[in-house]
Amino acid sequence: MLSYRHAFHAGNHADVLKHFVQMQLLQYLAQKDKPFWVIDTHAGAGCYELLSGYAAKNAEYESGIARLWDAQGLPPALAEYVALVKRLNPEGGLKLYPGSPLVSQMLLREQDRLRLFELHPSDYEILTENFIAHDKQVMVQKSDGFAALKALLPPPPRRALVLIDPPYDRETGLQTRGRCLAGRA
Ligand SMILES: C[S@@+](CC[C@H](N)C(=O)[O-])C[C@H]1O[C@@H](n2cnc3c(N)ncnc32)[C@H](O)[C@@H]1O
Repeated sequence: MLSYRHAFHAGNHADVLKHFVQMQLLQYLAQKDKPFWVIDTHAGAGCYELLSGYAAKNAEYESGIARLWDAQGLPPALAEYVALVKRLNPEGGLKLYPGSPLVSQMLLREQDRLRLFELHPSDYEILTENFIAHDKQVMVQKSDGFAALKALLPPPPRRALVLIDPPYDRETGLQTRGRCLAGRA
């Protein structure tokens, strides 16, 4: 399981669909003032460089987020998601892609909390670097997200978005895929 590195797949069509739905759910939860927690059991590295390292190897992002980058006439909700990714790329070109932890962090309000779990040592290290400035709101733990989830439910505000996103492949459903390196913000 720990040979999988999400950087290989960063920004591909599946990431785009997942993070678009994640954004919709976060916006729905934020309609009420009451705080909520986001529990991300399989966080990955948090943010990915697309033009170098493992993400550039197969360039899966080219058939994902890159196809939306300059698209005109997108439905408003999808245009909002692309705008979120563009906030991470203020120079205009597509270089960085936000993983699920960063999508959450960009949409959380002060009263909300983010709990991140990642087992891979390298991705965990990058994840902690990406979130070092947000330590009050965000907790990052190098532990099994499935076990951690049991201990966290229900969270104190009794409102939560739980994202369970383990590695998988076509053959087994639960996967060990090739090695790759996650990018950093
Ligand atoms: C599909 S990737 C996560 C992608 C991330 N959710 C995103 O959307 O940006 C799955 C991650 O789960 C990690 N992982 C595998 N088993 C785990 C476990 N039991 N607990 C926590 N993380 C695990 C892998 O190292 C990998 O980084």
